[in-house]
Amino acid sequence: MTKNFFITTPIYYPSGKPHMGHAYSSILTDIIARFKRLEGYEVFFLTGTDEHGLKIQKSAEKDNKDPIDFCNEVSDVFRNLSNQLNLSNTDFIRTTEDRHKKVVEQLWGILSKNDQIYLSKYSGWYSISDEAYYAEDEIFEEDGKKKSITSGSEVEWMEEESYFFKLSSFEKKLLSFYEKNPDFVQPESRKNEVVSFIKQGLKDLSVSRTTFNWGISVPGHKKHIIYVWLDALVNYISASNYFNKDQHAPWPADIHIIGKDILRFHAVYWPAFLMAADLPLPKKIFSHGWILSGDEKMSKSKGNILNPIELINEYGTDEIRYYLAKEVVFGLDGKINKDNIEICINDLANNIGNLTQRVFALIDKYYESKMPNTSENYTQNSITIIEPKNFIKCLQNLEIHNYIKEINKYSSKINKYVNDNEPWNRKLNSDTNIKNILNTSLNSIKNIFILMHPIMPKKSEYFLNLLGLNTFSINNLKIDIPVGQVLTKPKILFKKY
Ligand code: MSP
Repeated sequence: MTKNFFITTPIYYPSGKPHMGHAYSSILTDIIARFKRLEGYEVFFLTGTDEHGLKIQKSAEKDNKDPIDFCNEVSDVFRNLSNQLNLSNTDFIRTTEDRHKKVVEQLWGILSKNDQIYLSKYSGWYSISDEAYYAEDEIFEEDGKKKSITSGSEVEWMEEESYFFKLSSFEKKLLSFYEKNPDFVQPESRKNEVVSFIKQGLKDLSVSRTTFNWGISVPGHKKHIIYVWLDALVNYISASNYFNKDQHAPWPADIHIIGKDILRFHAVYWPAFLMAADLPLPKKIFSHGWILSGDEKMSKSKGNILNPIELINEYGTDEIRYYLAKEVVFGLDGKINKDNIEICINDLANNIGNLTQRVFALIDKYYESKMPNTSENYTQNSITIIEPKNFIKCLQNLEIHNYIKEINKYSSKINKYVNDNEPWNRKLNSDTNIKNILNTSLNSIKNIFILMHPIMPKKSEYFLNLLGLNTFSINNLKIDIPVGQVLTKPKILFKKY
């Protein structure tokens, strides 16, 4: 039976150009998706764009464009980014698509039928940039302007007729859910944040707006536009076609990957909406930290953006994927800069790159680029033996930085093994001995590239194809390259800076 795995990125606001923060959410999600495939899962991997709301309407107006034309253009930029980052997503949803609108309307219908929504009047602070409501104690004043304490974005006073979702009635249910499912939100520090937010008390949530029209109308009440976050969160079930019982993709999602700034929406509002509609909850939410430029979050409004496309053009997609996954502890904030990128790529070249070139050069020279055999009584040196469970554990715990550390540790051991045994030294080694060393080393390098596949898919596929391995899974860690296999020497794998 196929095992399914359903993973999502947040859907991105196409209000500006994609930046490193967006790329980061997507790359890390892709790494997990690819690792699950390596483990044999059928992976449903969803990403997309979040296209409604006042923020997008205003961005379109600024560009003198019709909102849909504006969204078509910018959504394409995000779709292209998925290709440039080499994402293996199986779907790309846009909230302006009919398949999505239909499900949002259906969900609204269920919430109404279940008596979870009522009409009243809203007055309070709203940030267009965050598309979020803030309480009086969540704002401060700076230069005569009211701002959100958490995001620093400007808020404005809003008063209008609005539909409300009965969020307050979910306080106890959510707390009891968190008690029973302590790993639902990870890392744990984020879970604690969520729980203490709920404990402070939940107010009913305004879920419609009447002062603009770019969005999905409340069924039967056209002047009300459904709150953009209610609209956006539903993407996770609209893409899986959940209400079509005959042909829906797997729901619940196994994991939503999100940034810490959108935790409240995913860890409080989303579970409450689903509970209110009697729908299953996602299994896990992982909240990563911010990519910082200097000490600040990278964002358009701060003007400190490192453009992912420029970095990819300069250093390569695989290299940037590797850098972000290795250097930023998954779950914490991480500073990035070009000097560090170069140091990181040089390490890659000196360790894995150098090892590969050396072993290939010798196999080329001594054995006409064919996989040498080992002698009958040869037993593998213990330091070269691989323990797949160590790697699987890191990924299962979502310690992606540690997963890479483990690979590099293994690669360093193989480097040391080659150095210590000097297969180039004919005086020291018999032919049989050289064959044993090269056979073991190349099988180990094969393992390194299999494990690296989720992180650096292009380089890894390129290399494994040269060994005659066109399809592979985690099981190939224990399967040696056949003796006599014709091997093709790789071009330089990693450029040095
Ligand atoms: N549209 C909403 C998400 C709706 S999901 C149902 C949204 N979009 S966003 O484009 O503003 O951000 C998308 C993701 O990018 C979020 O996870 C956010 O945390 C991430 N990043 C944006 N800037 C970031 C950094 N500087 N660093 C890391 N990730 C950050 O929010």
